[in-house]
Amino acid sequence: MKILQPKQGNYQLQNYESAKNSFSWDDVRDVFTWSKTGKINIAYESIDRHVKEGRGAKKALLYSDPSRNETYTFEQLKKLTNQAAHMFRKLDVEKGDRVFIFMPRAPELYIALLGAIKMGAVVGPLFEAFMKDAVKSRLEDSEASVIVTTPELVSRIPVDELPHLKKIILVGDDVKTDEKHFSYSKEMKACTDDDSAIEWMDLEDGFILHYTSGSTGKPKGVYHVHQAMIQHYQTAKWVLDLREDDIYWCTADPGWVTGTSYGIFGPWLNGATNVIRGGRFSPDDWYDTIEKNNVTVWYSAPTAFRMLMSTPSDVIKKYDLSSIRHILSVGEPLNPEVVRWGWEVFKHRIHDTWWMTETGAMLICNYLSEPIKLGSMGKPFPGIEAAIIDNNGKKLPPNEMGNLAIKKGWPSQMRKIWKNDEKFNEYFAFEGWYVSGDTAYMDEDGYFWFQGRNDDLIMTAGERVGPFEIESKLVEHKAVAEAGVIGKPDEIRGHIIKAFVVLNPSHEYSEELEKEIKTFIKTELSAHAVPKEIEFTDKLPKTRSGKIMRRVLKAWELNEPAGDLSSMDD
Ligand code: WT7
Repeated sequence: MKILQPKQGNYQLQNYESAKNSFSWDDVRDVFTWSKTGKINIAYESIDRHVKEGRGAKKALLYSDPSRNETYTFEQLKKLTNQAAHMFRKLDVEKGDRVFIFMPRAPELYIALLGAIKMGAVVGPLFEAFMKDAVKSRLEDSEASVIVTTPELVSRIPVDELPHLKKIILVGDDVKTDEKHFSYSKEMKACTDDDSAIEWMDLEDGFILHYTSGSTGKPKGVYHVHQAMIQHYQTAKWVLDLREDDIYWCTADPGWVTGTSYGIFGPWLNGATNVIRGGRFSPDDWYDTIEKNNVTVWYSAPTAFRMLMSTPSDVIKKYDLSSIRHILSVGEPLNPEVVRWGWEVFKHRIHDTWWMTETGAMLICNYLSEPIKLGSMGKPFPGIEAAIIDNNGKKLPPNEMGNLAIKKGWPSQMRKIWKNDEKFNEYFAFEGWYVSGDTAYMDEDGYFWFQGRNDDLIMTAGERVGPFEIESKLVEHKAVAEAGVIGKPDEIRGHIIKAFVVLNPSHEYSEELEKEIKTFIKTELSAHAVPKEIEFTDKLPKTRSGKIMRRVLKAWELNEPAGDLSSMDD
């Protein structure tokens, strides 16, 4: 099975080719208030607009964790985010100031984040597992003046070392307050819920800063503007295929861009019901969340699918997952093996989507109405021009590997790297193009195939090998749960291929097994792709969005410092 044909259905993007030819971002802008007033606010359009248009009683948020189970309508969220906006004003936050949110997923996180955006602040979501150094570097760089956090996390904020940080808002019961520390619930209670909270913004005003690690240097503050919502809205409509009656679950935390662009804005701009699950979850929790909420559209990541794939199949049999109609993936290469598994157990194709923190929204995707080529990321979203260019900025013909680049100027494109123009300009070194740092090729049908990050590509004995291809093949072996592949310097071959392999619990290491895996790669892929060395390990270093951190594997291998590890999962 190499191509999965679309199922018959009535999809919001029914004809990709004709959409591609006739689509214009300007038409989408007109959906929103901007067309009438020249001003927008992404928080208003996500929440208040639905109340204004008569959908106030609709369920917007279904929240659950082991101790809470709450439902919020659009009307309720409108009031709460108005209160939050007034609260930030009262605490002297002004338009353009940075407000950081550092807490586990909970309704208050979403209310505070939207409230801050509503009154014109630029929000900075921080993942709850960040420790002191990671928190400090981000607050320092952004010069944030206010942070919303919890009593459990507050000790990780070195207030005395952060001269710009003026106020800390604590979410929790009976919190201690002083001239710097405020109680979220008390401050919220003291605020009204009227609409004068809304700050009307220009298309190019900023609303969010997402810090992301590069392969070198300190984390970069990727800055996005309000009109990004045009693309959040349209991609959620055409790729997630979201409608108002959908119950949608994005498993990402808002500390990462997937958890905001598609955990908050994409679904709510389209008026869908958004499921948020707090806490860490086991395979049972994943399936339980889908069953209990009747989730219809599910957006997750290969690492999660692989984890579910490696749990015994009797777990999934306990649950009724028939509510699902559409499954999507992002963050790292989607192995064909995972797509096949998804097809078997869910009877649905898993749709890959490609984009980055810097791109703000999806750019290359698989669509419900289009065939899926297994292993390919799909085709550019209508209105997006993608190409493979060489190291001089010249476009390459189909089937040649090179830099994956995007014609610059899409709505959700980052507008700057906070206080770092030099880094920003590096992405646009070739006239007219944004260069992603990914290597890929485009086939004759216009499908894009991911090969690796530029810095991960392996040259071995004059052959160019993408680690992803080998990793994908390795996990197809019945004994292999996960695999990370790097190039290890070698005097004769330039690099040799080294694989780090996590075995399925049902298998144990033996020399024979190691040989068998190598033969498997040799016979299934090619001789030049066979890992010369395999190291068996319990765990692979990964980012919290699930990407295998090959540079950490490399550093381990070479006994070198691993660099910035703030995005690494514990
Ligand atoms: C990098 C961006 C924005 C989503 C979360 C990750 C890799 C992303 C895919 C995909 C292969 C992918 C790329 C990209 N990536 N999606 N579908 N197939 N690789 O965002 O942390 O900014 O990482 O993730 O290497 O450059 P991020």
